[in-house]
Amino acid sequence: MEGIKIAKGGSYLDKYKVSSHELSLLERGDGVEIMLQTIHESNIFYIYPSENKEVMEFFYLLSGELKGEIEGEEIILKENDYFSIKKLKSPVHFTALKDTKYLWVITEPIFKDVSEYIRKLKDIVYTVERKDRYTYMHSKRVAHYTVKVAQKLHLKKQQLEHAHLAAELHDVGKINISEDILNKPGKLTKDEFDLIKKHPGDGADMLANTYYKELAPIIIQHHERLDGSGYPYGLKEEEIRYEAKIIAVCDTFDAMTEDRTYRKAFTAEYAMEEIKSLAGIHYDPDIVAVFEEVLKEEGKL
Ligand SMILES: [Fe+2]
Ligand SMILES: [Fe+2]
Repeated sequence: MEGIKIAKGGSYLDKYKVSSHELSLLERGDGVEIMLQTIHESNIFYIYPSENKEVMEFFYLLSGELKGEIEGEEIILKENDYFSIKKLKSPVHFTALKDTKYLWVITEPIFKDVSEYIRKLKDIVYTVERKDRYTYMHSKRVAHYTVKVAQKLHLKKQQLEHAHLAAELHDVGKINISEDILNKPGKLTKDEFDLIKKHPGDGADMLANTYYKELAPIIIQHHERLDGSGYPYGLKEEEIRYEAKIIAVCDTFDAMTEDRTYRKAFTAEYAMEEIKSLAGIHYDPDIVAVFEEVLKEEGKL
């Protein structure tokens, strides 16, 4: 039925497993993640203060026994005990006295940092960036700018999270493009350019069947332009997702300010002027304006 999702015991969206513990992502949405953690007997784990002061974490013991030490005092937690954390000052450590299972709710997405699938995709991005001599760290920089711009534009938490991860993975589909084409010094032939044009779609396909499928439409649209001159679909204006419009600006700037096999890097000033001249034609004018502010704040202009 629409509006309700039922899952049977043992199912999960994603799972991370090592010898000492297991972490299953059960549900996620609106920046919140609900996980099931199993810590095997005699293993120690830490709860660290979050960088984000607004983050709340909640732990509910389903089975087992934990021993913790809080300000020199020992505490034992058993089944149905729970605790929550906000603005923690220093790490707290716990020892599992038995195999322990608890439900962990956090108001900031963290599972992507341990997700093997996401890690694999990031490794692919890294491989792509090494194939193409001049794009080292390109995706990281694009992600950095994207987050800065998205924050200034007050994107909702979930949208910001998706924009961030989509920016990091936006060129993952380039894995299917040969090194020769990526590094070709001269002009590309039509066939070669057609191959390049496939990378947004290929990247989207790599996420389409995962619990991060929301990233797919953003990734597929990062080369679309407001006037319909982009690819792969030639989408226009409102047909393009806002997150994709942000990535488009950050991506273009970063690509222009890096050396390429066929040309030297442009200066930040030149790249920004070029992007500004295409505001309203290729790029969203509000995003362009905010992006310029970000560059100024970072001392790049
Ligand atoms: Fe791209
Ligand atoms: Fe890119």
